[in-house]
Amino acid sequence: MQHLLHPLKHSGVGALPTRVLAAAAATTATTTTTTTSNAVPHLSVSRLDCLQQPGHIQEVNQLLEREGMVKLSLGFPDDESRYLHGLIVGLGRFHGHGQPVDHSATRGWFWDIRPSASRFQSNGCQARSETMREFPWHTDCSYEDRPPRYFALQVLQPDRRGGGVFSALAARHVLRQLSPAARDALSRPDFRIAVPPEFVRSSGRTHLVGSILAPGCSASASASASASASIRFREDIVTPLSEAAARAMDELKRALQSPEARRETLHLTSETLPRGSVLLLDNRRWLHARNEVRDPERHLRRVRWDAVPFV
Ligand SMILES: [Fe+2]
Repeated sequence: MQHLLHPLKHSGVGALPTRVLAAAAATTATTTTTTTSNAVPHLSVSRLDCLQQPGHIQEVNQLLEREGMVKLSLGFPDDESRYLHGLIVGLGRFHGHGQPVDHSATRGWFWDIRPSASRFQSNGCQARSETMREFPWHTDCSYEDRPPRYFALQVLQPDRRGGGVFSALAARHVLRQLSPAARDALSRPDFRIAVPPEFVRSSGRTHLVGSILAPGCSASASASASASASIRFREDIVTPLSEAAARAMDELKRALQSPEARRETLHLTSETLPRGSVLLLDNRRWLHARNEVRDPERHLRRVRWDAVPFV
């Protein structure tokens, strides 16, 4: 896999030169693994029945555990997401992953991410993912008591106009820039996290009070502590409840805009994630963002799973 260096215009992520991942290896075998130290592990999946092969799901799981991110390239048409469905069933059956999160009684596991001005999938309100606006650094479902540990995106139609670039930044690159005081403050339950209106459930709960970092992240700035860092974050719905929390939040926001964060950011363009790509991500070890969508036909399909308490 080859890296290209050039600047991407992405206000939520920064404008310094960052890594843009080039297209990955061609499919020549049932499963081909490509891994480099600076890139997303990549598997080419030539047939749906790879799911039946011993070791395939195990390989996906190992890469997900080790790197927190895996890219899969499907070598067959799958607009019904049969592969992704089977993969998640297998991760649950053989590797203990929790069940997928139902988006609603009618839509089941999958959520279609595409711009829409009228067809909203939740509570009759437009979710941010249903707009064409950029979406700055965040983790998914930060407002949930049990945010999903993983999510996957299947590309059904990439943005043909160069927008909608998916960016990812490992939390460890952010956390190691924070002072011990900021780590400590971010690990305390001193933040009000609002539930966006479109996701207020029947309980009517509108917010939670909790921490931004899982408590274990506060202990040290060591490499091992950073590697296992767990974060939940979405700036526009977080309110610090103390002065120390406010200072720590400012420090975190500066870290997200720092040259190191920009240097470590992966930008997965439409060339890197063409139609048929599936990206799996650890939602606690990686932050992600999206720049403005330019193609109204852009269409991703998302599934989230393994919702567990944020501790
Ligand atoms: Fe997201």
